[in-house]
Parts: sequence; C-alpha cells; structure tokens
Amino acid sequence: MDKIVINGGHPLQGTIEISGAKNAVLPIMAATLLADGVFRITNVPDLRDVKSMAHLLRIIGAKVEFRDNTLEIDTSTCNFFEAPYEIVKTMRASIYVLGPLLAKFGQARVSLPGGCAIGTRPVDLHIKGLQQLGATIDLERGYVVATARHLSGSNLNLDVSSVGATGNLLMAAVLAQGKTTINNASWEPEIVALADFLVKMGARIDGVGTARLTIHGVTKLEPVQFEVIPDRIETGTFLIAAALAGGRVQLNRTNGALVNSLIAKLRHAGAQVEAGESTIVCEADGRLKPTSITTAAHPGFPTDLQAQWMALMCVAEGSSIVTDTVFFDRFMHVAELRRLGANIEMNGNVAVVTGVAHLVGAPVMSTDLRASASLILAGLGAEGQTDVLRVYHLDRGYERIENKLRSLGAQIRREEGSL
Ligand code: UD1
Repeated sequence: MDKIVINGGHPLQGTIEISGAKNAVLPIMAATLLADGVFRITNVPDLRDVKSMAHLLRIIGAKVEFRDNTLEIDTSTCNFFEAPYEIVKTMRASIYVLGPLLAKFGQARVSLPGGCAIGTRPVDLHIKGLQQLGATIDLERGYVVATARHLSGSNLNLDVSSVGATGNLLMAAVLAQGKTTINNASWEPEIVALADFLVKMGARIDGVGTARLTIHGVTKLEPVQFEVIPDRIETGTFLIAAALAGGRVQLNRTNGALVNSLIAKLRHAGAQVEAGESTIVCEADGRLKPTSITTAAHPGFPTDLQAQWMALMCVAEGSSIVTDTVFFDRFMHVAELRRLGANIEMNGNVAVVTGVAHLVGAPVMSTDLRASASLILAGLGAEGQTDVLRVYHLDRGYERIENKLRSLGAQIRREEGSL
C-alpha cells in the first residue's frame, strides 16, 4: 500500500481546481439504473469509489466508460440484480443500488455494507422505508434480499435525517405508484443534486432543498446528461489546509454557498476568506484562535470535515471543543494526531483540543477517508517529516490530493508500495 510523505512547515500559495463531488456522483450513478439508455455525466472525479461503483454497474449489466472525468453509462442491458459482498465491503455507498433496482426491476440482492471504519452504520431506515413502499425484505446470509411486484407511495418519516436513506427512498419512490412523502429528509447539497438529476430524467419531486420531499410516481424515466456539483468536502479540506499551513490559496470551480458553515468558523478563527459563486480565497498567517464546532446535518458543520478541523485546532492558540453528533465514534484520528504531539482529551463524542505551538512529524496510520485527510493536513503544519501510511482510504475520496497540494508549494510525495 502507498504512503504519503510530507515535510511540514511550508506555507501554501496558488490556485487549484476543485473536483466533482464524490457523494453526489455515487447516488447519481445508481440512479441511472432507473431508465434504459445512454447517460453522460460530466465533472466526475477520478476516484476509487467511482471506479467501484462503475464496476458494480457493470456487474449489474450496464456498459460503463470513464475517461476525461466523463462517465458514459448505457443501462439498456441490465440483467443481474445483485451487489456482491466483494464490492460492497469496499464501498458502503453500494447500498444506493437497492432502491433503483427494486423500483425498476422489482428485485434486488445487496450485501450489507462495510466501507469506512467509523463505527456501526446501520441501514435500518433504508429497509423500513422500502418495506413501507410495499417491498418484501429478507436478510439472507449477509444480504438484503428485496422483492416487490410494484411499489406504492407512502408517508415516510425518517427517525434520523439520513443522507443514504433519503437517497435510496427517493430513487425508489420516483417509480412507485402514487404519492410519497419523505419527512425529516436530508437536504445535503448532494441529495439536492440527486433530486435535480431525477427531475431532469422526468421524475416529479416537490420540496427539493427542504426536509420534506413529495414525490409523485411516474411510469418511465429517460436517460439524460448531467454535470456533477463541486465537492464541498474537498473544498473544505483545502480551505483548512490553507488556514493550517498559512499562505493564500484560491479554489476555482467551487461555490462558497456549499461551505458556509465552515467559512463562518474559519473567519471566527482569524482566517480571511472571500467566497463567491465559483471561487473561494483563503488567507491565513500564524496561529489561529481556538474555535469550537459541533457537527450536524446540513446546513450545520459537516461531519466529513470534523477530523480536518480538529487537525487545525491542534495548533490553535488555546482550547476548543469538537463534538460529532452525526457519527458518535468518528474519532480514530485522535490517537494518530496525538502521535504528532497533539493534546486532545476525549469524553464520548466530545473532544477537548488544546493547541500546541508545533506538531512534530512522525509515522501515522490512515484509518478512514476523512481521518487520512486530517493527518495530511496535520503533517503540513508539523515540524519535520510525517509519513501517512496505508493511504488506501484517501484514494477513495480525494482526486490527486498530493499533486494539488504540491502545486500549492507543499513538500509532499507519494511512495508506492510501502506498508
Ligand atoms: C453519507 C456520506 C458520508 C457522510 C454522511 C453524513 C455518502 C456516500 N456518504 O453517509 O460521507 O459522513 O452521509 O453526512 O454520501 N443512520 C441510521 N440508520 C440508517 C441510516 C443512517 O441510524 O438506516 C444513522 C447513522 O448511523 C448516522 C446518521 O444516521 O448516525 C447519518 O448517517 P447517513 O446520513 O445515513 O450517512 P451515509 O448516508 O452513510
């Protein structure tokens, strides 16, 4: 497995382009199963998860071509309605094919997911919602086996505003007979993008961008062309990198509105941020003020930026509190940050981070996707060399992160085939 080697202490300077959003393109790829024909999806990030989803669609029978950040998906030959364990265990988002397969073909067999090691991540809301739409669901040897002669609209109330459950149920409901409402729906920008994609295909959805979606089922959807929205987590990761390493970084092909909650926190901490509809500039110098965050569903502070924010607070001038209310046990990065000299005390899902003047480089281990990013950011601010080992997860979600950081002046390289 590859490792990333960073020599810290160099400010960042320059401009980079933000890639398309991983968490938008994955459900959109699954949604192509809802119609027969050729889709063209642009601004697709070149990521391991995108390749895994492409592989899964091919197993289902679709033809998938991926080049120059463009996907062409021909779904007219789909004939195998299964997501095998071998794929699902590497990418939790494979669960997104459950709703579309069931709605379009009346059957689906999907392995229970693995993915990031961030605690227990159930799919009970996906299953309960599909049952309410009329599906029969059994669990057989680690697989969700779902069948339905037809799905019928229903009134669905999500106990938790789950991104995945909202996406899956939305994709099932667009072809169900009659009206479905999803209450307490997620309205993360990636769910809005999925809904926009489905509407372009001919779906009838009201309330897009709110926590209550109303769907009037249609009998047929059509293939379309679509451009993926910018990745707000990649955007946020680079903004925090600039704040941590110091310097001035301009991000193009992104939108300040996607990261409002982060920008407010960065400004509070003392970074200067100018945000527009296609460009964001972040400038910082020296240690920042301690600034506490609590993660929450959109428009709150994203859990996918919690680990990166913690890396920034490790070198702030004082103590801050980092609380994760979305994934209570998403703190695997804490032990690794401590190896770099961070002062972090944990109490359940609350971390008290007391900034130190300098982190000191050391070998650390990636544990999940966003934890890997936080270790790279910490390495940028640390004295000396940091080796981030086992960067497998990083490649699932960041397009050429080391190249982008190097173009900003960071001393960072990948060594292939290390432990
Ligand atoms: C998605 C994102 C992930 C992000 C997360 C929260 C993708 C591919 N992944 O993950 O990057 O960190 O949203 O913003 O888009 N829950 C249940 N039962 C369920 C489903 C979820 O209890 O059936 C709980 C989870 O345990 C968690 C909370 O709901 O505590 C939010 O999870 P959810 O929004 O579903 O996350 P994902 O869709 O898996």
